[in-house]
Amino acid sequence: MVFHVYEDAKSACEAGAVLMAAEILKRDDCVLGLATGSTPIPTYEKLVSMYQAGILDFSNVRSFNLDEYVGIDYANPVSYHAFMNENLFSKVNMKQENIHLPDGCTDEDGARYDKAIREAGGVDIQLLGIGRNGHIGFNEPCDCFPIGTHVVTLTESTIQANARFFSSADEVPRKAISMGIGNIMSARAVLLIATGADKADAVYRTICGPVTPQVPASVLQLHPCCTILLDKAAASKLG
Ligand code: GLP
Repeated sequence: MVFHVYEDAKSACEAGAVLMAAEILKRDDCVLGLATGSTPIPTYEKLVSMYQAGILDFSNVRSFNLDEYVGIDYANPVSYHAFMNENLFSKVNMKQENIHLPDGCTDEDGARYDKAIREAGGVDIQLLGIGRNGHIGFNEPCDCFPIGTHVVTLTESTIQANARFFSSADEVPRKAISMGIGNIMSARAVLLIATGADKADAVYRTICGPVTPQVPASVLQLHPCCTILLDKAAASKLG
C-alpha cells in the first residue's frame, strides 16, 4: 500500500485520473472499476478533459461500477446510474454495451454481476472512495468480509451521510447492491481517494489500524497494488 498526500482535494483527485488514464493508455480495452460519491467528481472531470483534448479514447474501455441503491428509479438523479451518466458516460465515447452497474435486489443478481466481471477478464483498476465509517462500495462494517456482489442494509451513519443527496434522510434507500470485498481485492490495482477532514479517522484506521471487517477499507493493507491519494485534511491523523 502506498499513499500520497496532496495540498488540496483537486490535486489528489486529478492524480487519480492520471493513474486511470495510464491504464487506458496501456490497454485500450481495459476494465475500469468505477465509484460514485462526491469525492471522485474531479477525477471524472479530469478524465473527460483528457478525452476532449484527444489524449484518451474510451471507445473500447469497459467498466463495472461498485454499487447502486436497491429499488431506486435509475432516472432519479441521485441514482448511481444517473450519477455515472452525468459525470462520465455521457461525456466520453464509451459504448453503452461496455458499461455495467449492479442491478437488481437479490444475491442471485449479484452472482450474475460477478460472472460478467469474470467474463470481462476482471477489473484492471478499481477506483474507490471511502465512507466515514471506513466502508468501501457499500461494504459496511460487519463481522466478515463479503466476497461477491451482494445486497446490503445500509448503516444509519451511511444513511445520514448520503442524505445530503436526497430531500431528506427518509428518502435514502435502506438497501443497496454492492460489489463485495472479494471483488475489490481481485482487481489488479486499487486506487482509493479520500478528501476532507471528515474522512481523516477512516483514513487513519484504514492505513494504521488492524485489518478488520469492522473497518472494511483496512483490508486494502493486504492488496498487492493499492494506491491511496489524500488531501491534507484527510491525512491529518496520519502524523
Ligand atoms: C457512498 C458510496 C461509496 C462512496 C461513499 C463516500 O456510500 N457507496 O462508494 O465512497 O459514499 O462518498 P463521498 O465521496 O460523497 O464522501
